[in-house]
Amino acid sequence: MKITMYGVRALEEPYFDRLNQDYFTCKYVRELLTHDNVVAAKGADAVLVRGNCVVDRQNLQQFADWGIRAVFTRSVGYNHLDLQAAADLGITLARVPSYSPAAVAELALTLGLTLFRGVNVAADQTRQGNFTIGANLFSKEIRTATVGILGAGRIGLTEAKLYQGLGAQVFAYDPRPSQSAQATMTIVDLPELLAKSDIVSIHVPYFPGKNDNLIDPRFIAQMKSGAVLINTARGELADVTAILAALNTGQLRGYGTDVFRDEGDLLGQEFEGSSDIPNVEARQLLAAHPQVLVTPHVGSFTEPALTDMIRMSYANFHDFFTTGHTVNEIHL
Ligand code: COI
Repeated sequence: MKITMYGVRALEEPYFDRLNQDYFTCKYVRELLTHDNVVAAKGADAVLVRGNCVVDRQNLQQFADWGIRAVFTRSVGYNHLDLQAAADLGITLARVPSYSPAAVAELALTLGLTLFRGVNVAADQTRQGNFTIGANLFSKEIRTATVGILGAGRIGLTEAKLYQGLGAQVFAYDPRPSQSAQATMTIVDLPELLAKSDIVSIHVPYFPGKNDNLIDPRFIAQMKSGAVLINTARGELADVTAILAALNTGQLRGYGTDVFRDEGDLLGQEFEGSSDIPNVEARQLLAAHPQVLVTPHVGSFTEPALTDMIRMSYANFHDFFTTGHTVNEIHL
């Protein structure tokens, strides 16, 4: 079986090769799937994409015309897939429902602690030769702090345990918390979580047209004054204008983000200077450094997470090619 795989980084190829126990014939495409490189899938039996690949009706139609019936993503999030178009065209979609949750949780924790302790400001200051110690570097301690986890799935739960290990009190909001989430965290409603938390960390999926700009002026106004906000989920969940305004007034102490709205035009690219960055929101966020810490969607970029993603994707293809189905199918 031939599979064209998009967005495979050079470093990832040996992992794909080593974990390919079914001897699939894999064609690696370095770039994310776009309308321009869709042709690389011609002749393939299936396609594997990652987040930010363009899996819209146009590309799905092209795949269907070439007889491709399986387009799988190795991400947890699937907001980049046009589910309706896939259903109309008889294409099966599948995903990786979970990979090492510590990958994203540890990044969220690192961003949260850095901003909470003011390391971002202190390091920026000393880099400029300024060793004065002002009120802006005065800090609370994490063992006396409250952390709010929005979305108590596997990642949120893993992050909660990390914070608890440091002595923080952890609240979570989730409309359908699992038993382990309920056993580990204090589940509260959203207003209470926002009012009490010194650090708020977002771990909810993005559903286009449903929870865009979840973090809006109203959300931020309900937060504790001077709190830190972390988004390692999706850029579309955050109203960047509202966040920047709140940083200016001090309502927010810091914002850490690994994700951007329309980030497909950024990821994997190197720009000459920040003025060349085509994404306006990303430019605005970078200009707010060090109050804003920006990473290039590397939450899942760890060896255990990569290994899980690849292993599970191969298992999805194995099941699909042998039975016509996989348990990880995505339905409308
Ligand atoms: C996910 O798995 O949903 C991610 O955010 C990572 C992916 C875009 C590579």
